[in-house]
Amino acid sequence: MELLRLEHITKNFGKGDGKVAALRDISLKIDEGELVAIIGKSGSGKSTLLNVIGSLMRSDGALDEENGRNVMKVLKELNESGKTVIIVTHDNKIAGQCNRIIEIRDGEIVDENKK
Ligand SMILES: Nc1ncnc2c1ncn2[C@@H]1O[C@H](COP(=O)(O)OP(=O)(O)OP(=O)(O)O)[C@@H](O)[C@H]1O
Ligand SMILES: [Mg+2]
Repeated sequence: MELLRLEHITKNFGKGDGKVAALRDISLKIDEGELVAIIGKSGSGKSTLLNVIGSLMRSDGALDEENGRNVMKVLKELNESGKTVIIVTHDNKIAGQCNRIIEIRDGEIVDENKK
């Protein structure tokens, strides 16, 4: 079942010459129970997208490897119990453990079904 849907979402910061397009015409559907990674370079718009989505569970900041593994384990367990989990990461290894990878580049989704 569909959990959320974004249609043609644009988000700009600032005005005039200083304007930054953080999200450019983003459309995206996420179903209940998905384990999704949002991946992309620094500044590509991940946090802005996550703010728009208003995630169900949220943890910010980088973790060391051991804590990263622990958090991933908990998130996988949560997902296996039926919760939808959306993870923002720079790390292909983390993203690769998710069931779907949404790749964002310069405010645009370039791939949303990669695994
Ligand atoms: N409050 C803000 N004011 C102005 N510009 C902003 C603001 N927040 C984000 N931006 C700009 O919007 C773009 C997307 O930023 P965002 O923080 O969403 O990227 P990100 O993918 O989360 O990066 P990171 O991997 O470093 O966390 C960047 O160009 C950033 O400089
Ligand atoms: Mg960010």
